[in-house]
Amino acid sequence: MSESVSRRQWLVNTGIGVAGGLALPGLLPAMEATRVLGGVSYGELLNQLERDVTTMRRAAGPIRLCYNENPFGMSPKAKDGLMASWTQHAWYDPPIRAELRATFAKHVGVPVDHVLVTQGSSEVLATLALAYGQNGGKIVAPWPTFEDLPRYGTTLNAAVHKVPLDDRFDHDLYAMDAKIGNDTKLVFLCNPNNPTATLNDDQALRDFVKTNAKRTTVIVDEAYYDFVDTPNYRSMVDLVLAGEPIIVSRTASKIHGLAGLRVGFAVARPDILAKLSSYVTGDPNVFGLHAANASLQDDEYQSFIKQKNREGRALLISALKTMGRKVTDSQTNFVFFHAGQPVETVQAAALAKGFRIGRAFPPYTDWCRVSIGTPEEMRQFAAILPTIL
Ligand SMILES: Cc1ncc(COP(=O)(O)O)c(C=O)c1O
Repeated sequence: MSESVSRRQWLVNTGIGVAGGLALPGLLPAMEATRVLGGVSYGELLNQLERDVTTMRRAAGPIRLCYNENPFGMSPKAKDGLMASWTQHAWYDPPIRAELRATFAKHVGVPVDHVLVTQGSSEVLATLALAYGQNGGKIVAPWPTFEDLPRYGTTLNAAVHKVPLDDRFDHDLYAMDAKIGNDTKLVFLCNPNNPTATLNDDQALRDFVKTNAKRTTVIVDEAYYDFVDTPNYRSMVDLVLAGEPIIVSRTASKIHGLAGLRVGFAVARPDILAKLSSYVTGDPNVFGLHAANASLQDDEYQSFIKQKNREGRALLISALKTMGRKVTDSQTNFVFFHAGQPVETVQAAALAKGFRIGRAFPPYTDWCRVSIGTPEEMRQFAAILPTIL
């Protein structure tokens, strides 16, 4: 197979060839992305990704650095998994649902009955708002944070208390504690937090969770768990195993690059999951289930994405620091920095240069959130920074 033919074939099979006007991957159900290149190893295949993805993303319009997506998309093995679902897309209750539940349970080290598979982790947050926020249920959340749960709560007429972050951009645990009472139905925590990209102190957060789990239910959103580099960071899953009324949410949208396929996870005691299950709307789509199941077992891809994210993040932070900008300590796939002017102005200037960046997150209306693209994209973005700031 010639180099040009094999590369074209690979683009088709990984789906990114669509943007270049090549055949739809769905028309090639029998082909498997990880096998087409014969002599090329998986590691080499992954190494080709940066160049190809960067070219394809540029061809598709402004580079998306606005929604904390994975610029590389799904792993080639997830693509294989998705193709395997071809025979099951007409089914309800496909066996892959139970398989993914078991795969994820093993991945995080909990019994299978401690896992609920949902349509993105947003569905975990929506069901929590339904289960705990109705009829004026009191919810306490940091602010700003990922807004879905407070937003659902507000829609349901819950009493939502938004507690401002402290001056280090951490959850203000003292202020949150003061808001929590025996009538509080739910406490939302987001660690690392979106949009600030920061981690709370591990021990302080754990103490807070343990204390408050005695009087209410606590949800810890760990959507960015896989991007954290701080060595002493720990998931709160062990507190779930200790029997506390804690829910940990995770997602297949970020490191697994499956945001459009909508797969997420709740980890909690079976009695809590039973309550949430009564509100879910049904199974996630079968393509997502297969892709997530394969991706969770693709350690090489997860390491690759983590490394590329680390590289892109370091490039951007270094460029911002060189310009004297304040930047938070990002432990995620995005960076939050002080622009010193309205975000909308920076957004418009970035768009004119071919980059779509994050919106404003009040009250930090002169801080920007920029998602990490491929390292090459971050080099290009760093180069235009002096002209847009
Ligand atoms: C902190 C946080 N939680 C949850 C989500 C929702 O993710 P999903 O795609 O799993 O619904 C996001 C999405 O950006 C997020 O930033």
